[in-house]
Amino acid sequence: MHFISFADMSPAEIEALIDRAEDLKRMRREGVITDYLKNRSLAMIFEKSSTRTRVSFEVGMTDLGGHALYLDPASMQLGRGETVADTGRILSSYVHGIMVRANDHDMLIELAKNSTVPVINGLSDREHPCQAVADLMTIREQKGKIKGLKFVWVGDGNNVCNSLMLACAMMGMEMVVACPKGYEPNQQILEQARSMGGNITITRDPKAASKDADVLYTDVWVSMGQEAERAQRFADLRDYQINMELVGLAKKDCLVMHCLPAHRGEEITDDAIRSPNSVIFEQAQNRLHAQKALLIRLMGKDARTQA
Ligand code: CP
Ligand code: NVA
Repeated sequence: MHFISFADMSPAEIEALIDRAEDLKRMRREGVITDYLKNRSLAMIFEKSSTRTRVSFEVGMTDLGGHALYLDPASMQLGRGETVADTGRILSSYVHGIMVRANDHDMLIELAKNSTVPVINGLSDREHPCQAVADLMTIREQKGKIKGLKFVWVGDGNNVCNSLMLACAMMGMEMVVACPKGYEPNQQILEQARSMGGNITITRDPKAASKDADVLYTDVWVSMGQEAERAQRFADLRDYQINMELVGLAKKDCLVMHCLPAHRGEEITDDAIRSPNSVIFEQAQNRLHAQKALLIRLMGKDARTQA
């Protein structure tokens, strides 16, 4: 199976991933050596920059006794016109999984169509499902539950927001997206999330949205690839910032979250990042544990029987 959209897994599979991620987190803390992916290799193609995704996947593979290869498209034959289809076919005859950070979501789909091994979305213009798994893990770890919480997104309804809409719908969180006109999340994914029972509201008012929030979440105003729109985005999104005023409107024990990298003074203030409500760095650390759980699920010995 592939993990290209968050909805590629069922809610029960997501819960199981989080259970395993918690076990792996404890084992790492205790210094337990694991070799669930001994002699297995993961190819990682990055069409865009990354710190967390690259390092957590690479270290994750090493932790599990396997090996990860960082591949830069510019130095692959892909950069000289080899097709995505041929690349998928060839790579899947060498490795046991392919992780891709893609400019265009369709590239992932094309690769998956031509791959005999699992393809993992390490972020595309449409979704960031691995981030959402780590986010759910962080919420469950901090709150002891996921279902019934109020999750508020503030800012650009982007790739991270799209995966979190599916996550909220599937795991029973109410979601409010506070964004300016023209910055709504993907309409098709919104409909998909609603058709799965998602209680998702879109509003223009971040203050009203933040009232009684259990989670306040934001992401950059300018995503990778949108640099040319910077001035317009700054003008349109300026009132969509997580700051201490918004945190004050949310529940006292509200979690402040951000997928990182953060741009202080833009979508979030420095004091909100450093406030006692912030779990942003825990969230980033959980990428490692959540991804290890995902890698075992997709590439481990038991993957075939579960697929
Ligand atoms: N959150 C996230 O995916 O970070 P990177 O861009 O550093 O991988
Ligand atoms: N929305 C951001 C997320 C980075 C992890 C981007 O696509 O650049």
